[in-house]
Amino acid sequence: MKKHFKSFAVLSLLAFSTSTSAQLTSEISLDVTKEGNVIPKEIYGQFSEHLGQCIYGGLWVGENSQIPNEKGYRKDVLQALKDLHVPVLRWPGGCFADEYHWMDGIGPKEKRPTMVNNNWGGTVEDNSFGTHEFLNLCEMLGCEPYISGNVGSGTVEEMAKWVEYMTSDGNSPMANLRRENGREKPWKVKFLGVGNESWGCGGNMRPEYYSDLYRRYSTYCREYDGNKLYKVASGASDYDYNWTRVCMKAIGNKMNAISLHYYSVINGWDVPKGSATDFTTAEYLRTLSKCREVEEVLQKHIAIMDELDPKNRVDLLLDEWGTWWDVEEGTNPGWLFQQNTMRDALVASLSFDIFHKYTRRLKMANIAQIVNVLQSMILTDQEGTGHMVLTPTYHVFRMYNVHQDATYLPLEVKCDVVDTEGNRKLPLVSATASKKNGQVHLSVTNASPDKTETITVNINGLTVKNAEGEILEGKEMGSYNSFQKPEEVKPAPFKGAKVKKGVLTLTLPAHSIVTLTLK
Ligand code: AHR
Repeated sequence: MKKHFKSFAVLSLLAFSTSTSAQLTSEISLDVTKEGNVIPKEIYGQFSEHLGQCIYGGLWVGENSQIPNEKGYRKDVLQALKDLHVPVLRWPGGCFADEYHWMDGIGPKEKRPTMVNNNWGGTVEDNSFGTHEFLNLCEMLGCEPYISGNVGSGTVEEMAKWVEYMTSDGNSPMANLRRENGREKPWKVKFLGVGNESWGCGGNMRPEYYSDLYRRYSTYCREYDGNKLYKVASGASDYDYNWTRVCMKAIGNKMNAISLHYYSVINGWDVPKGSATDFTTAEYLRTLSKCREVEEVLQKHIAIMDELDPKNRVDLLLDEWGTWWDVEEGTNPGWLFQQNTMRDALVASLSFDIFHKYTRRLKMANIAQIVNVLQSMILTDQEGTGHMVLTPTYHVFRMYNVHQDATYLPLEVKCDVVDTEGNRKLPLVSATASKKNGQVHLSVTNASPDKTETITVNINGLTVKNAEGEILEGKEMGSYNSFQKPEEVKPAPFKGAKVKKGVLTLTLPAHSIVTLTLK
């Protein structure tokens, strides 16, 4: 039996419902005169990895494919990603990055060597998608590339030459090689990761040893011809605060940012992770409360950074996050192909509501992975029929993109809170607001598995006349888009906003998300 209680010490005069009623009430207090930080658009970053069908079959099918493509990139996927306004794309991994040798992925395709992708299912990688294909994709999407360099099995020379190849405009060996390969002008590459998960698949190192390697590798990553590098140290996983502490002490003055990875895995790493689509209410609540625990994890890493970097010089990048379920039946276990339901959509909205609060330090977040892997935006048919579906998570990213580069408006939520398995608590309402170009946007999530929420929104500094926007809801918390029913979950105009005597009231069905423009 779940315990219901109200969050926050101040319980106010609200008439709260009991746990058995079909309707809950809650309250949001928003003061549009109190402005916070700008929410960097990079909080809405993506991650692409040579893993399963993320690159091959997902982003890239090659120019000779039957699937409609533009220079080898899937047209449908490209368009969907353009609509999403992807600000930054990380590549080539993940774990793959520390086994990737970039020189294998340049030059004439027929001469590129093949390799075995040891991390991900032993798949043969033909290197037909390499540096040019990735950086050109970023140009087509209008996003910043974020390159993850190989520290685990690569050399200092290899990383240094990669930076030179991509960014030098001089008469230098690597710039000339790039020109021979058909690209005259260098690309601009700002974000450079020096290793990935160096505590694990990136080399199983101790933070002290990694810090020394970071110093060495990053020294030779030069800035060519006006290209400013933003160097990212490979950071901690979840609750490994010692990693952050050691790295901040040893290399805090030599990096622009340190990363962090946090996945909403509810059963642990070495046991079945649970089905993406077939789950109980208890598992639903446990997932959302585990996702919300990222707040405490961010706070603790940030506290260490504040102690060791009081001038706030080093940024924190959550460059991998999202849900992780068992693979879909019949798919390669090493490809991590998972479906994506309303539960995943709520993980996305609840996560953004938290990320927006910590942007003094948190400057980027990259959900894993953009297509066909963990909490993806898009799934393409694994049979290669050319079908594509947008996931509920895609729709949240699209609805929330009004918050990119907007000024954060702090707010307070009073709502019912439930205890979930694993000793965590879950407030049933979550919200975030921002202001851009004179317009206030409010996103609200009702996380209740089965109850409608009536939410009163008290606003200081704005007399609301109406609130318009979209709602994302599923018939079930496990509703998802399949190739048979690609539009089972999609945004619709929101009809549940009422303004009476200047007071805004929202009625949100169970497991739903809205983004509204307040006018
Ligand atoms: O996202 C899948 C894997 O998770 C990444 O390759 C790795 O960095 C992390 O362990």
